[in-house]
Amino acid sequence: MSLKKPQVPNQLFYGDNIEVLRKYIKDETIDLIYIDPPFNSKRNYNQIYNNIGKEDKAQAQAFIDTWTWDDEAIQGFENITTNYNGLFSKQTIQLINGLEKVLGKGSLMAYLISMTIRIVEMHRVLKKTGSFYLHCDPTSSHYLKLVLDAVFCAKGGDFRNEIIWHYRRWTGKAAKFQELHDVIFFYTKSDEYTFNVQYTPYTDKSLHRKQNYHTRVKGDDVYVTSIDEKGVRDNDVWQIQLLNSQSKERLGYPTQKPEELLDKIIKTSSNKGDLVLDSYCGCGTTVAVAENLKRRWIGVDITYQSISLILKRLADSYGEKVLASTELNGVPQDIESAIALANKKEDKTRKEFEKWCVLTYTNNRAIINEKKGADGGIDGVAYINDFEANGIDVGIKEILFSVKSDKKPHVSYIRDLNGAMQREGVSMGYFITLYPPTKDMLEEAKKLGKYKNKYFGKDYDRIKIVTVEQILKGEIFDVPKAQEVKVVKSAKRKGDSKDQKDLFE
Ligand SMILES: C[S@@+](CC[C@H](N)C(=O)[O-])C[C@H]1O[C@@H](n2cnc3c(N)ncnc32)[C@H](O)[C@@H]1O
Repeated sequence: MSLKKPQVPNQLFYGDNIEVLRKYIKDETIDLIYIDPPFNSKRNYNQIYNNIGKEDKAQAQAFIDTWTWDDEAIQGFENITTNYNGLFSKQTIQLINGLEKVLGKGSLMAYLISMTIRIVEMHRVLKKTGSFYLHCDPTSSHYLKLVLDAVFCAKGGDFRNEIIWHYRRWTGKAAKFQELHDVIFFYTKSDEYTFNVQYTPYTDKSLHRKQNYHTRVKGDDVYVTSIDEKGVRDNDVWQIQLLNSQSKERLGYPTQKPEELLDKIIKTSSNKGDLVLDSYCGCGTTVAVAENLKRRWIGVDITYQSISLILKRLADSYGEKVLASTELNGVPQDIESAIALANKKEDKTRKEFEKWCVLTYTNNRAIINEKKGADGGIDGVAYINDFEANGIDVGIKEILFSVKSDKKPHVSYIRDLNGAMQREGVSMGYFITLYPPTKDMLEEAKKLGKYKNKYFGKDYDRIKIVTVEQILKGEIFDVPKAQEVKVVKSAKRKGDSKDQKDLFE
């Protein structure tokens, strides 16, 4: 009998991609990388689920897209200038040194350093025949292109395209041209790479245009390359609809990209069975499309909301079986790793332990309270139906979650949660604790008694204490879902609809 672990085709990592790349991803193993990192645009990437009440939206604040010149930036700068692991080309080192002179030690430089050390790792893991796509916007695209040139072109690779993703949206009335595009850079590691030409099929309308193309071809060679029986050969300007609030695809993740965009990239630059990496995978557009196109994939994200949303997206789209072919890494599986997560103190992983507790326990049903600073000890909110005071109308009631990781949890935490519940007019709360609750805490919770939910005709503890140990054993929140509030949208089941068929393979 072989002791070798069975090979699982796909991997999802919960963690900082620099650590994941350095520790777990071997040299020259990936066929295609697409990344859509947070931009340096001072925009708030609030990782909130958009389909909730306005009040929650205003309060929620997850990942503020700013960088500061901190220890991580200093360390990254040192990694580059001392050529950590021998990975940095002379051009990269000189470029970063030069940029530092121009930009100084500020947020833009910190951002570029953070990107450079990661791009260099991604270059390392890319196969010689591999392709790399970086999605960004005009705020920093010109700087990122300098970095990409220094990393790729200095080592036998090349710049292939600057793709403009053009979309329509409401941009307001600022006194400047409307901003209606993103930039996607396409690089390869060598001159030998997969490139499956894509075509936009003719529609009835464009058939008419096709006639015109033919007429013009006679006198003008330029058009010869852009027509084909299959349709119009794709150029570097892509017209793809943004996901608007009405899109069926939309999962409520603010920076979610359309599947059509990833479909084009993955079909162009990989073949069935190839390995695709997205190390900033968000709500998992790349991995969902890769799965659909029968590629193997690796996804990495630093926030647990993404990881739990991806698991749900995959299960909704492809059934539970896809989870069996996915190795989940970095998610606490035992009390030691839960303690390790709770002890992570960097700002980037702020509240990750609390998010993991609340989302795992509620199976992704709760909304995370992203408020920085004083949050009144509330880490999440879920919803239940109950009758209004008139006993006729059905309303939605909040349930509060509070998480603590202190070695010696105190009875005052239960009182605080009860205080917050009273303040908010809430009848139910959950207290999640990493270390076992004290006798006092259990007694205090018991003293608060039961809440009778008339809609479901059931009694619940006013405050229920749950331990991380119980969560790790798979214990789950057993409160029925509020009908009117769908916190996380479900992805459409894949497989039967015509639009999923691969037209040109
Ligand atoms: C713009 S979003 C990606 C959206 C994605 N393309 C989609 O369609 O859902 C960027 C993601 O990068 C993640 N992220 C930021 N820094 C990271 C890091 N150092 N390691 C891993 N993920 C990171 C954020 O949590 C966020 O989910």
